[in-house]
Amino acid sequence: MELAQALREVVGATHVLVDPELTGPYERDWTGRFGGRARLVARPADTAQVAEVVRRCAASGAALIPQGGNTGLVGASVPRAGDEVLLSLRRLNAIGEVDAALGHVAAGAGATLGAVQAVAKAAGLDAGLDFAARDSCTLGGVVACDAGGARALRHGTARAHVAGLEAVLADGTVLSRMSGLTKDNAGYDLPSLLVGSEGTLGILTRVLWRLVPRLDARVAALVPLASVEDAAGLLAALRARAPSLESCDFFLDEGLSLVLAHQRRGSPLQPRSPVYVLAECAARSDPTDELAAALERAGIEDALIADDTVSRERLWSLREGHTEAISAAGVPHKLDVGVPLAALGRFLDEVPRVVEAAVPGARAILFGHLGDGNVHVNVLGPDADDERADDAVLELALACGGTISAEHGVGVAKARWLERARGADEVAAMRAIKRALDPDGLLNPGAVLPASRYTSPPRGCSSVG
Ligand code: FAD
Ligand code: MLT
Ligand code: ZN
Repeated sequence: MELAQALREVVGATHVLVDPELTGPYERDWTGRFGGRARLVARPADTAQVAEVVRRCAASGAALIPQGGNTGLVGASVPRAGDEVLLSLRRLNAIGEVDAALGHVAAGAGATLGAVQAVAKAAGLDAGLDFAARDSCTLGGVVACDAGGARALRHGTARAHVAGLEAVLADGTVLSRMSGLTKDNAGYDLPSLLVGSEGTLGILTRVLWRLVPRLDARVAALVPLASVEDAAGLLAALRARAPSLESCDFFLDEGLSLVLAHQRRGSPLQPRSPVYVLAECAARSDPTDELAAALERAGIEDALIADDTVSRERLWSLREGHTEAISAAGVPHKLDVGVPLAALGRFLDEVPRVVEAAVPGARAILFGHLGDGNVHVNVLGPDADDERADDAVLELALACGGTISAEHGVGVAKARWLERARGADEVAAMRAIKRALDPDGLLNPGAVLPASRYTSPPRGCSSVG
């Protein structure tokens, strides 16, 4: 039987899409840089349907690309070879009741982060993770990417919130570790392996999400600074003096100009500065004094303080608004790197130079999560498949002792860099795991682990298979 018909039997005729008008939105990524035609889009409703779809695809040798909200930024949520089945998990969006005693909530992989945040809030708790794509991205995608965001500084990345997982393996086997036991070290921790695996080792169908206490007393400060060194000094003072510190992000003046123009608003700060830090403290009782003491300790005389929700959100929209403002200016090459704090100044200084040397006229917009040493380098100018600037920036991140991916994942965008970043031995171990769980290479081929079918290695990198 033809595959589309075989899948219609499982998920129903209306949930197998083949018409290009209907499949289109699933086939291009959020940045507009990556995409291709899918053989079809399948939209199962529950774990049993996911397992049966996977079995039928395996039987016909069809590759599968899992997709949640399609907000991923490394090209791994969309087809690229033209013959893959796009598996949309969005219909698995049921959210259970919060277990207040354990501080857990079980949610389908297709539930949005925003919906989980709302359920947690109603129960007097907090999801502990947040970023601008909250109302589109799904919990499955968040866990598959081990997403971070501004609040990871205090609460950790998605990994820290995974108390249990249910997943379908490449042969259709359903693994379920949803007991939520705090102590359970019987055997290998397979859920840990699936976190950050970007759809290459299994399809996540349910997540047991660990919640954190809800802290409603919040204050944010936008601090203009002369240099990255000053920003690092401020971070040190905040860490030492403000135990309620929850986020510490940064952006530069060029990015601020882009955001202000895109949002058609004036600068809340005059005169302008080269660097801005946006820090937020959260506690049970007003953390304003704590924040003020830390700012004073760092010698800060000038800062915008926001202690109500509306003004805090206005400050955060300057930082979160970078993603949309950049995309409105062109199709960016998004390079999400991590560098040690000690090397951050050198990295930020050198990026514009190496980008200009690689692609004359290209422009780099820099911002990120200062407290995590996580810099989002957004390069505007090069064609989608011109990777010269990407290579130069990733080379620089490694030369600074950093990583090629901090929170967005490797995806297809950086797969050919994995061996340079991790070394041949570690990548060989990763390949052994991949072979054990997905011997036919059907789950998200070409993502994370480079496949020669899709990529060629960066200069100076040994061969990839
Ligand atoms: P998708 O984009 O659909 O998929 C992403 C990856 O996960 C793909 O490899 C896909 O195959 C895999 N996947 C998806 N669902 C499943 C599943 N159920 N089982 C197995 N694999 C699956 N990221 C951060 O870390 N921090 C940020 O601050 C941040 N901010 C963002 C802001 C904006 C405006 C946007 C557009 C993105 C942002 N991101 C951020 C990127 C981030 O990775 C995603 O938003 C989110 O983690 C992806 O979720 P998704 O459901 O959209 O996944
Ligand atoms: C952010 O911190 O805003 C996100 O990671 C998205 C981006 O890098 O554009
Ligand atoms: Zn980020």
